[in-house]
Amino acid sequence: MDYMPDDNSRYKDVDYWDERYKTEQCYDWLGGFSKFQHLLEEHVKKEDSILILGCGNSSMSGDMYSAGYHSITNIDYSSVCISTMTARYSDCPGMTWHQMDVRQLCFPAASFDVILEKATLDAIMVEEKSPWDVSPQTACFVHQALTEVRRVLQGQVHFAFVPAHTPCRNTCVSRHVLSSGCNQLSTESRSESMAEACDLPTLQSHSGHTEDS
Ligand SMILES: C[S@@+](CC[C@H](N)C(=O)[O-])C[C@H]1O[C@@H](n2cnc3c(N)ncnc32)[C@H](O)[C@@H]1O
Repeated sequence: MDYMPDDNSRYKDVDYWDERYKTEQCYDWLGGFSKFQHLLEEHVKKEDSILILGCGNSSMSGDMYSAGYHSITNIDYSSVCISTMTARYSDCPGMTWHQMDVRQLCFPAASFDVILEKATLDAIMVEEKSPWDVSPQTACFVHQALTEVRRVLQGQVHFAFVPAHTPCRNTCVSRHVLSSGCNQLSTESRSESMAEACDLPTLQSHSGHTEDS
């Protein structure tokens, strides 16, 4: 089945994702666990409390669980996604699934050691033509999301984002992350960017082509 929307702006709508997740079983945007395993093993401890933003129906969380990461909280704003994933991983104690918007995380401050996102901020920024110069609405959205990220992270902590755009160019996100004081796994603060290390393909372009894998 073809899940590509007629218009890229649909990637911002929860209705699009709800509809898609009614039939799509699994899709790993920008690659699955094996692509990032070496970086996770280097930076994330098995006992860390991990939050995954915009989990979708990716196998990443399940594969991380199998690899020994047993404290994983997943959120996505699609109710269809969350009910499917809750049922799929009902036999994984320590792994939970919550319908939630990245801009309003219903967790107490300092709840997590590590927060991961893969292609979720991309869905939010999908209409932007340049990551250097985003609209006030997108800047506000990203600011709200990253303010929440900073609030629920504890201590000297990690926020790893895996964008379609090369991270060092993704200044809207980078600027907010750096100013929030988070320790990033994936951008200028480390010599090895997750995306660059993994030679990630382009998620979407504004010429209409989408969902390269
Ligand atoms: C491109 S998919 C990435 C899915 C998964 N992270 C992966 O790597 O395969 C974007 C996901 O972000 C979710 N999403 C988009 N905006 C969101 C928001 N404001 N709050 C929570 N989830 C959101 C969508 O429902 C979708 O599951």
